[in-house]
Amino acid sequence: MILYKFYTNIYILFSIVLLMKKEKIESKEVLFRDSPPYPVEIINSEGSYLIGKDGKRYLDFMAGWCVGNAGWKKKEILNAIKNFKGPEYVLPNYIYKRWEDLATKIIDLLPKGEWTCFRATGGTEANEIALKMSRAYNKRKKFLAFKGAYHGQSIACLSLVKIPDHEEHFGKFSDDYLQINANDWENTTKEAVKIIKGGEISAFISEPIICNLGVIIPPKYFFDEIIKACKETNTLFICDEVATGFGRTGKWFGFEHYNLEPDIITIAKGFSSGYAAIGATIAKQNVAESMRFDFSNYSTFGWHPLSVEVAISNIDYIKNNKLVDKSNKNGQYLLEKLSEFCNAEGKGLCIGIKEIKKGVDLRCLKDGLIISIVEGRIVLFPPLDVSKDEIDKAVEIIRKNID
Ligand SMILES: Cc1ncc(COP(=O)(O)O)c(C=O)c1O
Repeated sequence: MILYKFYTNIYILFSIVLLMKKEKIESKEVLFRDSPPYPVEIINSEGSYLIGKDGKRYLDFMAGWCVGNAGWKKKEILNAIKNFKGPEYVLPNYIYKRWEDLATKIIDLLPKGEWTCFRATGGTEANEIALKMSRAYNKRKKFLAFKGAYHGQSIACLSLVKIPDHEEHFGKFSDDYLQINANDWENTTKEAVKIIKGGEISAFISEPIICNLGVIIPPKYFFDEIIKACKETNTLFICDEVATGFGRTGKWFGFEHYNLEPDIITIAKGFSSGYAAIGATIAKQNVAESMRFDFSNYSTFGWHPLSVEVAISNIDYIKNNKLVDKSNKNGQYLLEKLSEFCNAEGKGLCIGIKEIKKGVDLRCLKDGLIISIVEGRIVLFPPLDVSKDEIDKAVEIIRKNID
């Protein structure tokens, strides 16, 4: 009997393995996609263009969603990769001078004060570090954010914003995460101030200009009142500059439009202009002190030596080529041209178009222009040195396809 059961179990196990093998062979989806990709295979990039397998050149007005701020194939940044001599890797708890060099370079871009950097591989990790730090700083567990915005894919980052449907699939998120709406600013401001003044919120986190809701620009009084309430209650303000940083909005950082100073700033994307994977959390030193305990943070690939070289040369490239200025000027020109026929708003080259019809992204793609639609708005994030001719060409494609 025992022998019979043993052989039966072996038989079942063998059948399952065979079935799994067969399924794997038959399934074509070796790479998971949550939704179908756009029907273009990208094989290269150059300047403001992506090049498809069919040889067609696509005007890239997304730049990888605020990633390629410097533009593609810039030899100064590619040289940093070509000339990299090592070390191939440095264990995070050793000394590596280029980490200090990069940290100094970032801090030099910020308002004068005592800042310190934490190494990360991208935006989600940078925001996770910010949330952890905030909890360690004021020993509170609650966070406030804009509903439906975006700060990354970790459970904490998704809990912050409660994207519709997510709780249905992932289960209920913690009640420690509170949201406000990014509209009806007078009421939103009152509600947010009331929540913060309750004294239980660890931090309010937001993009300065909310790219992930289709480029929404909160009024100055909103941030003024939020910061005042935060100061009164020892609540932190985490400014997510992952998308808006490095010249995207016509300033080095989006918060400069509001003349305010965050307690923590998170960066990624334009930090390397997409030539390497890197992110950072930059905090006021008194806030960062709360992380001075064993194993408060660790990142195996945070600030990989090669990514550090890329980030340093990217910052130099943006400075030397006055790309922040260009973003401002090119953005004004693009906004003027768009305003002739549609309802556009934005800062620098961070632009959203309201009241659009479905399918405009695919129609534009067919005509050789890459754009995205989010929350019923077109978003445009071209490289910061996009030329006037390229802007004119993109505007004509949008004009033709918007209705
Ligand atoms: C504002 C913002 N924060 C955080 C993230 C997450 O960054 P990453 O994809 O590098 O983890 C994104 C990504 O789109 C973002 O736009």
